[in-house]
Amino acid sequence: MLKDWSEVYSVGIDEIDEQHRGFFDASHRLYEEIIERRGKEAVTTALAFMRDYAERHFTTEEAFMRAHAYPDIKDHLHMHAAFFHRLDELEQELGMFGPSQDLADRALDITQDWLIDHIADEDMLYALHVKSGARVSA
Ligand SMILES: [Fe+2]
Repeated sequence: MLKDWSEVYSVGIDEIDEQHRGFFDASHRLYEEIIERRGKEAVTTALAFMRDYAERHFTTEEAFMRAHAYPDIKDHLHMHAAFFHRLDELEQELGMFGPSQDLADRALDITQDWLIDHIADEDMLYALHVKSGARVSA
């Protein structure tokens, strides 16, 4: 099921919340391109957009965590890397079998649903750390 960003997903940092909204949009675009079945090319474009968006977003988060000396940054970075690994698998599946409802559902699972869990379980932790007044490095 497609879900939009809502206040319950807010980490309380405007720039990050704004990017999470865009992440949902990129995820929905990918899902819709797959179910519309306009071919591999349209899906490949949406997948590339999703990847670029995630890269930019993770770069923002990672810089933020470094600036605030977040102690669990290493684990968090592993989770971002794992996200790209799953996108690679999705791309391989697209290449082998083409667009399908099953592929669309998997795409939603590894992008939108992953993000929802990641915000609740991980992003909230660094946000709390930042809001607790941790130092900002020079
Ligand atoms: Fe994250």
